[in-house]
Amino acid sequence: MIKLSEVLAELLKGYKLLPIVFGKSNAGVYKCIKDELCPVYYLKTQDFPTMQEDQLLVEKERLVWLEGTSIAPFVIHYEQCNEKEYLLTTALEGKNIVEVKREDNIKLFATTLREIHELSIENCPFDMKLDSKIEIIQKRIAHNLINADDLEEENQGKSLEELFLELLEQRPTHEEFVVVHGDYNLKNVIASSVQVTGVVDWGRSGVGDKYQDLSIAVRDVKKYYGQSEVAVFLNTYGLTRIDKQKLSFYTLMDEFF
Ligand SMILES: Nc1ncnc2c1ncn2[C@@H]1O[C@H](COP(=O)(O)OP(=O)(O)O)[C@@H](O)[C@H]1O
Ligand SMILES: [Mg+2]
Repeated sequence: MIKLSEVLAELLKGYKLLPIVFGKSNAGVYKCIKDELCPVYYLKTQDFPTMQEDQLLVEKERLVWLEGTSIAPFVIHYEQCNEKEYLLTTALEGKNIVEVKREDNIKLFATTLREIHELSIENCPFDMKLDSKIEIIQKRIAHNLINADDLEEENQGKSLEELFLELLEQRPTHEEFVVVHGDYNLKNVIASSVQVTGVVDWGRSGVGDKYQDLSIAVRDVKKYYGQSEVAVFLNTYGLTRIDKQKLSFYTLMDEFF
């Protein structure tokens, strides 16, 4: 049983908290349900992280910024208490897109990304450009926050310092800015049997190169649906010419997260 603050205990009175064992971060995620008349919520909680960038507060700020886009959950409550952070949001209806049996999953995955990338960067106050990302990576290495066992097969056995140098060598000279989600994998996209109802897990979103999302999305499409479906994804997204160097750079960059 998790320990809740007074405010949360009141907000979640009578609710059952069902742990969700999905996703790879350290946060505990709970689906909160009561009865048919009461709304479903999601509660995310974690110990205070070493780095400010990993705080749930960062995700909360982004969700507030996204209000009105109808692409993300709404914040109900955020709190720091008992050395922990708690973020309570509304639930998006449906399941992870991988669990929904539909013919057009890949197309939906692509059009939803397109929709995110069409948000205006003008008013987006969050910086996820390469300089910032590389600074974050350096801090993550220094704080020992990267699990070398999680590296993709082709990078197994390499040291993080070695990989980081490889990354710097491959750094693209040009960035194409959009609002990126920052962790655009299939498990973060929620769909009902009819449509995509939204996207969760916005803690790394901000203005950055569109290949940040494309690289993670392509890797997931390959993994779950096979290489042959990558073209469907990219065509639907609307990419006519793929920059393979950038794709490979941003795929490597994700190893550090
Ligand atoms: N508001 C929400 N509505 C619907 N499902 C959610 C919501 N928040 C989280 N989930 C589910 O819980 C999973 C884990 O939550 P997420 O925020 O992605 O945490 P993590 O950072 O651990 O990946 C998601 O993949 C999704 O299936
Ligand atoms: Mg997630």
